[in-house]
Amino acid sequence: MASRLQDKIAIVTGSGSGIGRTTALLFAAEGAMVVVNDRVDAAGRETADIIKESGGQACFIFGDVSDSGSAQAVVKQAIDAFSRVDILFNNAGGSQGVKGALGDTDEEDWDKVMKGNVTATFLMCKYILPFMVKNGRGSIINMGSQFGVAVVPSFAAYSTAKAAVIHLTKQMSLDYGRYQIRANCLCPGPILTPGHDRFLRSKPDYESAISERNAAVALGRMGLPEDVANAALFLASDESAYFTGSVLVIDGGYDARLCSA
Ligand SMILES: NC(=O)c1ccc[n+]([C@@H]2O[C@H](COP(=O)([O-])OP(=O)(O)OC[C@H]3O[C@@H](n4cnc5c(N)ncnc54)[C@H](O)[C@@H]3O)[C@@H](O)[C@H]2O)c1
Repeated sequence: MASRLQDKIAIVTGSGSGIGRTTALLFAAEGAMVVVNDRVDAAGRETADIIKESGGQACFIFGDVSDSGSAQAVVKQAIDAFSRVDILFNNAGGSQGVKGALGDTDEEDWDKVMKGNVTATFLMCKYILPFMVKNGRGSIINMGSQFGVAVVPSFAAYSTAKAAVIHLTKQMSLDYGRYQIRANCLCPGPILTPGHDRFLRSKPDYESAISERNAAVALGRMGLPEDVANAALFLASDESAYFTGSVLVIDGGYDARLCSA
């Protein structure tokens, strides 16, 4: 199963940390030329350096992909360098530190979460699609969340944004299937990444927060970035040639539980 992405060009947004970084490393190990992107310069450079030091191919393009000019610049630089992009993993996103029921959510915070998740995904897809259409193929992987499928209290903006990402993915699969462009959405449950760890450390009791999450999952543990990266690799590769418009939940069985009894 080696080299499942041999000679493919892949952009992974937000790959300076967490799921994005682990996926970028895996894609490179499978033979892809990886365009690492992040809005944190040092973090993105570090990912590209790790790949290159282990014999893989990578370049880093700085930019906040929720900004139209930056998203266009990322696409332009990737196309200028490699003439095509085969795989786009829209991983960048997150809750942006916003939590609350709808009535407690400021308009500014609402906009921030929509921009960071829905607009970022929209912009990257919008500007890469003409090149994928020209090529007559492409695999787009969008980052949803378990929160986009079902909800927990007090995540009004984030849950709504991730649900929108799921629908955006389904819409693209219909509109671009005829060009052999596939669009699929990953919906992870609780994954222990630096981003999630920061959130847990903001709670009064970090150890209890981890234990609660582990206990809520059928498999008895939080997910690892590798659990999601492996699913992204499948969707990026030709092994998933008949997958489009799919919503892949990766949650260790979290969602299977009806209640805590
Ligand atoms: N960790 C989880 O439990 C979990 C669960 C479901 C979904 N997700 C989703 O997975 C994705 C990655 O999460 P993570 O936990 O690995 O986070 P993380 O904070 O560890 O890493 C995210 C990286 O993305 C970068 N980034 C964020 N927004 C960006 C933007 N607009 N442009 C460029 N770079 C940007 C950050 O600088 C950071 O390096 C997010 O979309 C998140 O919503 C995470």
